[in-house]
Amino acid sequence: MQVLVTGGMGYIGSHTVVELLENNYEVIIIDNLVNSKIDVLDKIEKITGKRPDFYPYDLCDKELLKKVFMQHKIEAVIHFAGLKAVGESVQKPLLYYHNNLISTLNLLEVMKEIDCKKLVFSSSATVYGSPKELPIKEDFPLSTTNPYGSTKLFIEYMLKDLYQSDPTWSIAILRYFNPIGAHPSYLLGENPNGIPNNLMPYIVKVASKELDHLNIFGSDYPTKDGTGVRDYIHVVDLAKGHIKALEKVLSTNKVDCYNLGTGIGYSVLEMVELFKKVNQVDVPYQIVERRAGDIAECYADPTYAQKELGFTAEKNLEDMVRDSYQYFLHNQ
Ligand code: WQD
Repeated sequence: MQVLVTGGMGYIGSHTVVELLENNYEVIIIDNLVNSKIDVLDKIEKITGKRPDFYPYDLCDKELLKKVFMQHKIEAVIHFAGLKAVGESVQKPLLYYHNNLISTLNLLEVMKEIDCKKLVFSSSATVYGSPKELPIKEDFPLSTTNPYGSTKLFIEYMLKDLYQSDPTWSIAILRYFNPIGAHPSYLLGENPNGIPNNLMPYIVKVASKELDHLNIFGSDYPTKDGTGVRDYIHVVDLAKGHIKALEKVLSTNKVDCYNLGTGIGYSVLEMVELFKKVNQVDVPYQIVERRAGDIAECYADPTYAQKELGFTAEKNLEDMVRDSYQYFLHNQ
């Protein structure tokens, strides 16, 4: 069965492509490489022994997108492609709304035209805004505090309206918590260009002495030790969750949302201390003021994904901090 993976050369996309190939799906990737590197294709082939068809196209070019669908018998789509830097989205809202919404509209219109109506969409826990209670369930109120998060929420609305208009669609909306870690081969992992925004890649650059120290954004939150608490999920677990969601959309006709998290919240200080212990490396840090837009605490109630998808994250935080650092060491 042929599955199109948009953004399949990215961090989560490439790990999902590996899982798809290892589950004997045929994979076609469209990725404009704006936030990924072409050598990921070789890494995927090295891990799986299979090389997906790859098109370096931008989904905003509807004609090129249509060409790919005409050249393959695509039966389902996993849609990762999109810009995803929160801070950048605040500076460049039109870029984010144009890129993330037009690319998705193009994809949905072409899928409708050729009658391919099975879709897994990469959403984010950011659509829950600042939750009033924890753990977070899928029916909690939705709100966003930055353009990136708003693009994810608007696409969720588009998908729900599309299904209402045509219930022959089958759509799984996956709300990721905080993906970190790397493939056990250490051939795939997260290596953002420049100064990372996210905690784990920043810690790795401090541990490798590329950056001098970690700035911990606030220690006065109402949390176990005053620093921010998040639900970190290993990227391989997250990829496996996409296989479960694909199986769901192939066997049902509905639109539904699923939290992909572990259900466990760890603080920044807990993460730093465990990273140092597991990797036997120092991570100097300073406590500084809070980062604008951050929430205190966020972790998933994973029971609905377990019940509906049969998905449960298996790897723990030790696996995540080890794999993140080992990926760096293996790719210096
Ligand atoms: C985690 C914790 C920070 C960096 C973001 C996006 C979200 C999703 C995942 C796409 C927080 C603290 C961080 C640093 C720090 N991305 N921190 N120093 O903000 O939970 O979520 O990435 O879908 O949309 O918002 O992740 O890794 O940036 O922060 O103290 O240098 O680490 O305050 O408590 P976040 P993060």
